[in-house]
Amino acid sequence: MERLTRSPLFHPDGPRRPQGLVGETTYLLELTGCRYPWADRLYRKMRDLYWKPDDVNLVADHAQFAQLTPGEQETFLNTLGFLIYLDSIQAQNPAWLTQYMAAPEVSACLLTQAFFETIHAQSYDHLLSSLVDGHTRERVYRLWRDHPVLAERNRTLVEPYEAFYRHPTLEGLATLCFADVLLEGLYFWSGFSVFLTLASRHLMTGTAQLIRQIRRDEQHHLALYIQLIRTLRAEAPDVFTDDLAAGWQSLAIDAARREIAWMCEITRQGFEGLSPETIAAYVEWLANQRLEALGIAPVFPAATHHPLPWLERLGEMNAGKADFFEQAVVNYQDDLDFSQI
Ligand SMILES: [Fe+2]
Ligand SMILES: [Fe+2]
Repeated sequence: MERLTRSPLFHPDGPRRPQGLVGETTYLLELTGCRYPWADRLYRKMRDLYWKPDDVNLVADHAQFAQLTPGEQETFLNTLGFLIYLDSIQAQNPAWLTQYMAAPEVSACLLTQAFFETIHAQSYDHLLSSLVDGHTRERVYRLWRDHPVLAERNRTLVEPYEAFYRHPTLEGLATLCFADVLLEGLYFWSGFSVFLTLASRHLMTGTAQLIRQIRRDEQHHLALYIQLIRTLRAEAPDVFTDDLAAGWQSLAIDAARREIAWMCEITRQGFEGLSPETIAAYVEWLANQRLEALGIAPVFPAATHHPLPWLERLGEMNAGKADFFEQAVVNYQDDLDFSQI
């Protein structure tokens, strides 16, 4: 398949407007009348939701963390260890991807995403600095490559990205975007369940507020990659073969299996509210949801219902605010309506 190239930075003979997601471009950022109005709207939505992790007070969480069982503490820290890696690579990857994007408004979304991933990584730093000693913090920051299960996951989950950057093609771009759908919409959602489950017991509520803010941003990122795939499919339908869909189904199955194994491993000492059965049911449901959003058949036929619907409620920005969240002012716009982009 044809290798994608990037245009020179000074390209006066380039097209007035990009012809598609990829191809020749002048990089001129002119939002009015841009080719992809959805990207302009999404960029503005993301920009308007700027927030600072340090505004969330974690003093109460510090005291509560010490009262969690050793098993719960390990689940908490191992989950952070994975999320730190995911947000760290997502602070890089979207920026690299812009080299191949012809529409500057799409690059604006990707660069804004990268900026917010930096805020998410800062949130985990804020959490660790507030909750644990320096030795523990150091250990958590090494988990991504020291924990054998996690290291293997991280090695494999970047393969679609590395494959694209080695040999950038349209098909590779589509699969990279699908890898992002899994990263943003399956790995993160599963990881958030740990913190939201604690919040359901009125524990670590400052942490939960940070997670809600991160989760809302991830909804935007998920919407971005789904929209990129839909746009690519409209512009290059030949790329979207049955073989490609089957490959994505395999990726989703593998992603779900690895996530379930990881979550079961880190909750093996017991984590009230999350059992191996509920973990598997939730992750499989997530995998089905992400495929269905792209018009691809689900891969876990039994996972037809959300097994933990209360997670969605607790994940919303104002969840439980009157009950246990008092320290920060919450005054943000509503979550992005996926049907509006
Ligand atoms: Fe993130
Ligand atoms: Fe993200």
